[in-house]
Amino acid sequence: MDKLLITGGHQLNGEIRISGAKNAALPILATTLLTDATSKISNVPHLQDIITMMNLLKKMGVNLELDDNFNIVADSSNINSFNADYSMVKTMRASILVLGPLVTKFGKAHVSLPGGCAIGARPVNLHIQGLTAMGAKIKVENGYITAEADRLHGTTLCMDVVTVTGTENLMMAATLADGLTIIENAAREPEIIDLANCLIGMGAKITGAGTDTIRIEGVEKLSGCNHRVLPDRIETGTYLIAAAMTSGKIRLNNTDANILDAVLLKLLESGATITRGDDWIELDMQGRRPRAIDIHTAPYPAFPTDMQAQFTALNTIAEGVGMLTETIFENRFMHISELQRMGAKIRLEGNTAIVTGNRKLQAAPVMATDLRASAGLVLAGLVAEGNTLIERIYHLDRGYEQIEAKLTQLGAKIQRISD
Ligand code: EPZ
Repeated sequence: MDKLLITGGHQLNGEIRISGAKNAALPILATTLLTDATSKISNVPHLQDIITMMNLLKKMGVNLELDDNFNIVADSSNINSFNADYSMVKTMRASILVLGPLVTKFGKAHVSLPGGCAIGARPVNLHIQGLTAMGAKIKVENGYITAEADRLHGTTLCMDVVTVTGTENLMMAATLADGLTIIENAAREPEIIDLANCLIGMGAKITGAGTDTIRIEGVEKLSGCNHRVLPDRIETGTYLIAAAMTSGKIRLNNTDANILDAVLLKLLESGATITRGDDWIELDMQGRRPRAIDIHTAPYPAFPTDMQAQFTALNTIAEGVGMLTETIFENRFMHISELQRMGAKIRLEGNTAIVTGNRKLQAAPVMATDLRASAGLVLAGLVAEGNTLIERIYHLDRGYEQIEAKLTQLGAKIQRISD
């Protein structure tokens, strides 16, 4: 398995391009199941999770072609299977996003339950409850969800918990249902808006995406999509923190400052100077050490849970004491023990980590446990004294396109070691 070797102590300066958002590209790929026509999807990040989703769709009969910029042309005229096997789903939970499209387009689906992951149990009960309320007959047995429906019907769904992929699955299911579906307490992430815009481009009738109430008027048929995926706000935030931790100055191109306000406000609080344009963000620490910040994760537009590990890493070398409270997932502090092995001063009290900043961290061999935890370890390696070796970086490859090339471009000393 590949490892990353990082020699700490190099300030990050310069500019890189941000990739398309993984968490928008995944549901947008699933929309190819909602049409018989051809779809074009651009600005797709070249990531393991995207390849997994494409393989899953290919198994169902979607013919996917890739050009050299990883833009995708999908021909959905010959979909002939409605299964998502455990062998595929266990490697990527977001495979659950094929459930809503399959049931509403074909009236049947046999999809493996995703199961939990390192950060939590991550149930999909709300996905199932919503589809049932729309008229699907669903059985959950032997680790699989088996769903059947004549034609789903619109209804009012009030989500007990704000769920991103739950909102996405049900919004996709509602596009071909008979009548009006209202999703209340819907997730408001920018990726939901991007998916809705893609669906509207296919002929869906959706209003309210980005608010907590989304209305979808079902239609008979959808055309193919022609959509450019929005920039990845979590990748953007991760590189901004890398620059803040190394007291550097970087510019990120092909991104959007309007989709990560909560993150930018915290970076300003930590002492960064931030300037922004239509599709770029610049952060300048002016050589200063960041100040510690407090965060409390919550659904968008509040502070994103996917940035918690990265800000934990920032707090380990910041000036002062920072408190980080995780409210979304029950086990999203797996990076803490690894950071402590690098000399970080962190105390865990329930779902809050109290971090006392050190001037330096010590390099150490550490192990990635999940996607964003591994990003936090990379950030720590950038400032640690010596050579940090990070194992199990397949977690990282799921969500960060060419991370060592982008960090090298900014002046980091990082290399991938393949066994
Ligand atoms: C999405 O996961 C993202 N993944 C996650 O990003 C992100 O951390 C998460 O949203 C929260 O923002 C994708 O978009 C592919 P949820 P999702 O359903 O949809 C509970 C990354 O790093 N819940 O919004 O699976 C759940 O247990 C990944 O890119 C139920 O109880 O998360 C959690 O506590 C990690 N029942 C809360 O809701 C359900 O049926 C939010 O989960 C569904 C969710």
